Amino acid sequence: MIIAFENIIEYLGNEFLKVIISNKIRKESDYNKIVVQFIENGQKVFYQFSFYTKTQVFHKNIFVKDEVVKQIIKLFKDFKQLDIFDKDTCVEIKETKKGKLFVNKSLLKTQIKGQTEHNLQKAYLLSPEMKIPALIDLDVITTDGKIIQKSQAKFRQINKFLEIIVSEIKDISKDEIRILDFGCGKSYLTFIIYYYLKFILKKDVHIIGLDLKKDVIEHCNKIAQKYGYENLQFVNKDIKDFSSEDNFDVMVSLHACDTATDYALFNAFRLGIKYIFSVPCCQHEIFHQINDNLNFITKYSILKERFSSIFTDAFRGNILEATGYKVQMCEFIDFDASPKNILIKAVKQNNKIDKIKLEQIENLLKQYDCKQTLFNCVKTYLKF
Ligand SMILES: C[S@@+](CC[C@H](N)C(=O)[O-])C[C@H]1O[C@@H](n2cnc3c(N)ncnc32)[C@H](O)[C@@H]1O
Repeated sequence: MIIAFENIIEYLGNEFLKVIISNKIRKESDYNKIVVQFIENGQKVFYQFSFYTKTQVFHKNIFVKDEVVKQIIKLFKDFKQLDIFDKDTCVEIKETKKGKLFVNKSLLKTQIKGQTEHNLQKAYLLSPEMKIPALIDLDVITTDGKIIQKSQAKFRQINKFLEIIVSEIKDISKDEIRILDFGCGKSYLTFIIYYYLKFILKKDVHIIGLDLKKDVIEHCNKIAQKYGYENLQFVNKDIKDFSSEDNFDVMVSLHACDTATDYALFNAFRLGIKYIFSVPCCQHEIFHQINDNLNFITKYSILKERFSSIFTDAFRGNILEATGYKVQMCEFIDFDASPKNILIKAVKQNNKIDKIKLEQIENLLKQYDCKQTLFNCVKTYLKF
């Protein structure tokens, strides 16, 4: 069907999920492609415009639908193709050689439909197409915007973690957000948090990533400098020894090994950090101490491992509750993707210390003849 230019608006009136503007008319135009995605993130609903040049991608969020439609129509003047996706259909509008607009509407093939729903409704905040520069340096995505096979799981994992953080911290009304990432390792997560908050949500974000590995920290600092990420710093230090005069809003730790998670949680408490997102791993401390009382479980090594993890994280959750946090535990990714998938999400409610609860925790630890690092740190700090 042939339509007039002014009729395009009819196809943008419905609830579309994604629009792709491509096939540019003039070679010298700045952008090769523009993608508009509908994003539903917590209570926030907006349209994210991604402008692709040959080497970079720029983002802009627009919250008012009429303005979105106006912008799309304006931008399309420099292109020949406009694809509009909703849940089930794709409307393809193409300029013919004679300068007419040809429209074709088709049902989405399962695969395309799947991708569209996956990208948009599951709200993966960052797509590989965005070609986030640091993720190219870290071998997560290729220069042409594809996820490297071995990094598929990592990419899903960090996207999911980001999604949880962003949805939780949406209440922070100030523009400046200060974050600590304890045990940042290669810092995939750190870079995407920085990128998303700074370039997409336009926040004044400051992040410090901390890790024991000197070479990894040097590499991460080089990447941050290469892209001019001034407020992203990596420090080679033991989490246990971290101290700072600054205020921080958020603490993240993703798979900080064994008691490193305890020191991360303790620092968050000590520094009065409001938001904690921590995915523990390898809970060896309790594993090596569990006594014969629990022999009916621990004689099976797989159960001993699982039980030690759950037991440790239950202590951590309860200690945080006793120190003024509201705590939730959830599976942040599928167990298939990683069995280390319990996220401790804690939000500070007040500065009250529940001494009775702490004593109960101490008695329980005594009962099982266990020492627990977070508990010991809190006890020493509070001097009880
Ligand atoms: C499994 S890696 C996870 C890295 C990163 N967060 C991620 O998920 O990709 C754990 C990291 O914690 C770091 N780490 C372990 N104990 C630490 C400590 N006490 N202080 C600082 N970093 C520590 C290790 O060097 C390692 O890079």
